[in-house]
Amino acid sequence: MSKDKIRIGIIGAGNIAQNAHIPAYLKMPDAELTAVCDLKESRAREVAEKYGIKHVAADIDELVSLKDVDAVSICTWNNAHARAAIAAARAGKHVLCEKPMAMTVQEAEAMKKAADESGITFMMGFVNRFRADSKAIKEIQESGKLGEIYYAKTGWFRRRGTPLGWFTDVSKSGGGPVIDIGVHVIDLTWYFMGKPKPVSVSASAYYKIGDYKTKGVGRWVAFDTDNLVFNTEDSASGFIRFENGASMTFDVSWAINGKETGIYSNIYGTKAGISLDPLALYGEEADYLVDSTPVVGKENSFENQIRHFLDCIKEGKEPISSADDGLQIQKILNGIYDSARLGREVML
Ligand SMILES: NC(=O)c1ccc[n+]([C@@H]2O[C@H](COP(=O)([O-])OP(=O)(O)OC[C@H]3O[C@@H](n4cnc5c(N)ncnc54)[C@H](O)[C@@H]3O)[C@@H](O)[C@H]2O)c1
Repeated sequence: MSKDKIRIGIIGAGNIAQNAHIPAYLKMPDAELTAVCDLKESRAREVAEKYGIKHVAADIDELVSLKDVDAVSICTWNNAHARAAIAAARAGKHVLCEKPMAMTVQEAEAMKKAADESGITFMMGFVNRFRADSKAIKEIQESGKLGEIYYAKTGWFRRRGTPLGWFTDVSKSGGGPVIDIGVHVIDLTWYFMGKPKPVSVSASAYYKIGDYKTKGVGRWVAFDTDNLVFNTEDSASGFIRFENGASMTFDVSWAINGKETGIYSNIYGTKAGISLDPLALYGEEADYLVDSTPVVGKENSFENQIRHFLDCIKEGKEPISSADDGLQIQKILNGIYDSARLGREVML
């Protein structure tokens, strides 16, 4: 590492890199963007010029071999997360990996192994954990105020919010809303529950709506939208059991004919319950039911996430969203697809 700055390489210079990771790094006085690569070299060059980034690497291997790089942000399509993370770890570079960790459990295991063997800091980009309201929920759960958490209900319904681009091509994404937005809500809720060990999943996935021409709707758009393929599910629901007897239900959709929701996460404990968005605590005081609202400020979750990554590197701390957390969530995500395909509950 250079004396006072952590030198960052950006792998994959598309939407999330340009609109979330790069702006967040630019706000950090102890980070410096030194390298970038992309399958489209012209895109990497544009980004390098715009932000004064010294190196445009030809590919992942060249980027991770650069002396001027201490750490990388992996912002590629999902099908390159494993390759990039393993190459970076073997080259001794710290890794912040966008969600989902990988496309398969085998890939996620290999990533964790490479990170453990090299001793680098590996952090999953589970950005919703870094929201101000999420941090409040986690702290309230850790205080013991909720008692034993035995059930949780989570989800995210978009009515017509299928992302455009590689997301709907299973060879690049690994799946649809389960792996794209289910990963956020399932991870967040599991984290709020105290990360119990997942043991089984029963789920259904629906391939019903596919592509559509609905007007007046907003969609996440990847930087390339040529050659569109639609072979992912457009909604899914299921039930996850944990070793401690607790369970979680989830519902997710990119497209469904029903009411749109934001990310919701309802946590039910023996002493109190708590919900995300709107943030609310459901308890009892002096034999009365009491609903209360923790007051939290506005924070930028991507900046919080990147700050945490840099702090973990500097202090040698394990990130709150570790490689092992990524692996546990990957097991659930792939378990959902296995259960849906087989039409029965699967053990993880
Ligand atoms: N945390 C969040 O809320 C959030 C939101 C959107 C996307 N994401 C994640 O970010 C990642 C990127 O999504 P996006 O929307 O930015 O997509 P995008 O298509 O806009 O950008 C991805 C970029 O990666 C490049 N790329 C792909 N494979 C590569 C490889 N092997 N080597 C180098 N470059 C490669 C592409 O050319 C493209 O420029 C995905 O994993 C996605 O799940 C996270």
